[in-house]
Amino acid sequence: MKDIKIGLLGFGTVGAGVVEILEKNAALLKNRLGVPLTLAQVADLDISRDRGVSIDPVLLTTEAAQVVENPDIDIVVELIGGYEPARTLVMAALACGKSVVTANKALLARHGEEIYAEADRCGGEIFFEASVGGGIPLITSIKENLGANHFHAILGILNGTCNYILTRMTQNGESFGAVLKDAQEKGFAEADPTFDVEGIDTAHKLAVLIGLCFGSIPDFRNIYVEGISRISSVDIDFARQFGYVIKLLAISKRSENGIEARVHPTMLPEDHPLAAVDGVFNAVEVVGDYVGPVTWIGQGAGRKATASAVVGDILQAARNLRAGVRQRTAPLGYLPAALRALPIIPMDDLMGQFYLRFSVIDRPGVLGRISTILGEKGISIASMIQMKRKADSQVPVVMMTHRTREAAIRAALERIDSDGVNCEPSVLIRIENSDSD
Ligand code: HSE
Repeated sequence: MKDIKIGLLGFGTVGAGVVEILEKNAALLKNRLGVPLTLAQVADLDISRDRGVSIDPVLLTTEAAQVVENPDIDIVVELIGGYEPARTLVMAALACGKSVVTANKALLARHGEEIYAEADRCGGEIFFEASVGGGIPLITSIKENLGANHFHAILGILNGTCNYILTRMTQNGESFGAVLKDAQEKGFAEADPTFDVEGIDTAHKLAVLIGLCFGSIPDFRNIYVEGISRISSVDIDFARQFGYVIKLLAISKRSENGIEARVHPTMLPEDHPLAAVDGVFNAVEVVGDYVGPVTWIGQGAGRKATASAVVGDILQAARNLRAGVRQRTAPLGYLPAALRALPIIPMDDLMGQFYLRFSVIDRPGVLGRISTILGEKGISIASMIQMKRKADSQVPVVMMTHRTREAAIRAALERIDSDGVNCEPSVLIRIENSDSD
């Protein structure tokens, strides 16, 4: 084998980063692999824009299918993102016997099962280290280095945009809307930030992690998703007074009843390892039965970090091709026949502690009414703050509960909100801490 040929689908931010590494670090990559990695073709709808990297124009095409079908190409790198045409192209590349590298978590979250099955059927390989946590090398670690473990839990800060917004809200007291606008103007946040701020991107990444840790491909529609757009600085301030910070967390835990799979703003104790992960950084903690807790922190997005993970995958795929070995490790690290469809536990059945905020007029009986309703639902209050009254205006009343069932909390809040005691809908934020109450 003289060299290994790469075909790139998508010449955007990360694609340009991959081209840059292949060129600038060509000698290093050859020293690691033994043969050169050659960029053979690049497909994008826009082949005229300058990406700030040098590329022979003859390599550029607007026809992605040409790259997939090119018999000279060994490894197809899909960096288009989204569901289609990425799904069709990845499936076609696998059917052509190519090794595939992708950073596309949305694709894997929705179509992972058929893509892994196609790789298995065709004897091909698919690598996706860059799909979760950008440059953080956690997927290979979970599949390979931590393969001795049953995992109990996954906890992750998986979206840099949300973490950046929450960090600025926490550190500077800015509002969600103001930070988002500024982040968009500076190009940190997407023009359409919905997938990021509403937690969908995080849920895509959690779906991939659940497959890797628990050997179960979740139905994406059953993952509970709540984003950060309704988080206010008032709640961030109260969280601080109670010794917590608010993060958008992806959480999955395994129990005998199935798995929890949820993404929502979460109050974390200030001394939790993930509480100090700020700005655009991502972090993931997994807990294995032998290794215990393991935490990774690093850059979860951006051209350089993500391209680093993509090229790492290209190296792995190329090494296997050179050695004539494929499917040494199954895509999720479990043999396809060993994958199980574990049930996702309904949110109502979860046990946890909750932060509740009510907006009330400070009049006799108001607090009594709220505590009566909570008491009737079997909810015990662990601590409480009521702000000082300002004339006849609304005041926040904030409570932290002891451990209770989520269904009880929801039923109580419904009663309180319809009772007229509350001036605005109640706010609920889940608390993640030790299992003590
Ligand atoms: N938009 C994502 C983030 C990066 O803000 O973290 C790509 O998944």
